Amino acid sequence: MIRRFLLGAAIAVTAAVTLPLVAPVAHAQEAAAEPELLKGDWSFSGIFGTIDKASAQRGLQIYKEVCSNCHGLYEMSYRNIGGLGYSEAQVTNFAAAFQVADTNDDGAAVQRPAKPSDRFIRPFPNEKAARAANNGAYPPDLALIVKAREGGVNYVYSLMQGYKEAPADVKLADGQYYNAYFAAGGQKIGMPQPLTDGAVTFADGAPNDLKSEAHDIATFLAWAAEPEQDARKRLGVRVMLFLIVLTGALYYAKRKIWANIH
Ligand code: HEC
Repeated sequence: MIRRFLLGAAIAVTAAVTLPLVAPVAHAQEAAAEPELLKGDWSFSGIFGTIDKASAQRGLQIYKEVCSNCHGLYEMSYRNIGGLGYSEAQVTNFAAAFQVADTNDDGAAVQRPAKPSDRFIRPFPNEKAARAANNGAYPPDLALIVKAREGGVNYVYSLMQGYKEAPADVKLADGQYYNAYFAAGGQKIGMPQPLTDGAVTFADGAPNDLKSEAHDIATFLAWAAEPEQDARKRLGVRVMLFLIVLTGALYYAKRKIWANIH
């Protein structure tokens, strides 16, 4: 009786301590949406899954060449991309391709090449300018978009592939496009289709059909929303293994100690 209770308690404690570490943080992945979202094959799903860095690097290239014209990656610094497997020199080179505002020693406003410690530059100085350039629609921050939208990574993946000819009964205003997955706006979205077959030619020669591009940008944005997820999962698995071993050891010790008493 006591033995069972102890074993049950040990298992409960193990689960309570480790589950929050290994479970993905509130993504509402399975939430219903109309129509049903396309489901990508994600290297990082499950507790042992890790980000496919090559795919995320291609996603960064897509962000840089396409999405960054309208969307920012708030709070992200250039040095953060080191987490995708780039060397320090590569990060420095990547950053140096962008110009940021600064003040020189004489107090004059100047533009200088970005350093790894600088934040990603934003395409517009403020929300009004962003809306003015996009027919009144606001291109949101992409750094947290995978967490901010129901369906998470599959939503971004689907949205990229959701542009269609509008059905006859749907009237689009100027600057609106029909996207099957933009349920929040009644399928009318203020973003022109950003990706098409061959929109980006990847440095590593990987396929660049629309589906592959959608997969890579979604992988990159899933990483951006939680850059430490691989480390968190590794820690979770280690803690779980440790607790399993500890549970066994304690159970064995308990049996030894009580063996001659009852
Ligand atoms: C020409 C400007 C432009 C480009 C380029 C662009 N977007 Fe957008 N995007 C917008 C605008 C404007 C909105 C807001 C649409 C609305 O609210 O109707 C938006 C919205 C979004 C949303 C949010 C949809 C929602 O549920 O609210 C996502 C996700 C998104 N864009 C991803 C991307 C990605 C990924 C790329 C690059 C592959 C990209 N965008 C390129 C202008 C752009």
